[in-house]
Amino acid sequence: NNLDQLYRSVIMDHYKNPRNKGVIEDGSLTIDMNNPTCGDRIRLTLDVDGDIVRDAKFEGEGCSISMSSASMMTEAIKGHTIDEALAMGHEFSQMMLGNDYEITEEMGDIEALSGVAKFPARIKCATLAWKALEKGTKDEE
Ligand code: FES
Ligand code: FES
Repeated sequence: NNLDQLYRSVIMDHYKNPRNKGVIEDGSLTIDMNNPTCGDRIRLTLDVDGDIVRDAKFEGEGCSISMSSASMMTEAIKGHTIDEALAMGHEFSQMMLGNDYEITEEMGDIEALSGVAKFPARIKCATLAWKALEKGTKDEE
């Protein structure tokens, strides 16, 4: 239907024109994460000031779902606290699990990935960047 089509084009737009692609050279956090089932990988760098994520960038090799999700995630979390970013990740996981979820406007295009929940094999792709975020911010504590 039209919504599926819209979501697909949002995903492709993030894949072809990734937001925040690259590495923050003096970033305070660097997190590497891979999807063991396919070998795709992501490196997330975060510039964290106090508990605010000032900047977020990613680079990596992966499918359209994993890369577009990383692009969406970096956009969503910038300017937010780590706790807020992790709360967004929680809502995203709920969306992937097919549970009730709440995607606020500031989370941007993330809802475009909601259809991925129907394809269990792709859920790992969609959550790769969020797992990196979780891993990196847990290591912080
Ligand atoms: Fe990632 Fe096929 S290998 S989509
Ligand atoms: Fe590897 Fe999607 S196929 S992350």
